[in-house]
Amino acid sequence: MELEATFPKITTHVLQEMKLKQEKIAMLTAYDFSMARILDQAGIDIILVGDSASNVMAGHKTTLPITLNDMIYHASSVMRAVKRALVVVDLPFGTYQGDSKVALQSAIRIMKEAGANAVKMEGGEEILESIERILSAGIPVMGHLGLTPQSIHKFGTYVVRATDEDEARKLVHDAQILEEAGCFGIILEKIPARLAAEVAQKVRIPVIGIGAGHEVDGQVLVLHDMLGITQEFSPRFLRRYHNLSEEIKGSVKAYITDVKSIDFPNEREQY
Ligand code: KIV
Repeated sequence: MELEATFPKITTHVLQEMKLKQEKIAMLTAYDFSMARILDQAGIDIILVGDSASNVMAGHKTTLPITLNDMIYHASSVMRAVKRALVVVDLPFGTYQGDSKVALQSAIRIMKEAGANAVKMEGGEEILESIERILSAGIPVMGHLGLTPQSIHKFGTYVVRATDEDEARKLVHDAQILEEAGCFGIILEKIPARLAAEVAQKVRIPVIGIGAGHEVDGQVLVLHDMLGITQEFSPRFLRRYHNLSEEIKGSVKAYITDVKSIDFPNEREQY
């Protein structure tokens, strides 16, 4: 029997209980139907339709170019596959930072048109008004602090964030603000493990890390990175579980050889 038939649907309340029970939360990205179905059947707790789709699906250098329509397309494909996992969708750059009414409209489109379970937004106090307006419409929000890729042009580099005291204190303060506002969880990206542990202890909502050590409530990775489909991205925090890029290349080369040598299709593979 498939996992999704025997286990209940993951909700934000289930995640909260997991934190209380100190059960770690496993989260991965997905952007399409086929991968999302595999992840869901394998028992992943949260699927993030990340704006990293801008990099791994569309080949952009940053997450900035992806549009709300693109995100709705990816999220709709994922939603058609998922039965058990909680599906969180990134609000893309430019759809929530300036005007909280625009932010609410963006979030509503993701919930209505894709059927998503929640949205994720990068930033703390500076986007509080947008977060509060979206929450007031009954839409669950996940925060994202530390290295926030939509701000790459402000940071200028993808190095570890919050290594100095001022940025570390602001990050702890922002995490508490997100919790008080009503966010159901927070992602901490590429910050010192000690600081991430402090945040996870200070807030009651689940804290999911990526490059933030193990003393948090769960982990997230970009699927294409952990499967070894992407090759050029190798930060210290990335554990590669496969070298799928080489395996796919091997299969494609074998297919090319078979076609060119008229080995494929054979007698049994034709009508
Ligand atoms: O877009 C994304 O994949 C993300 C993860 C890196 C957390 O935000």
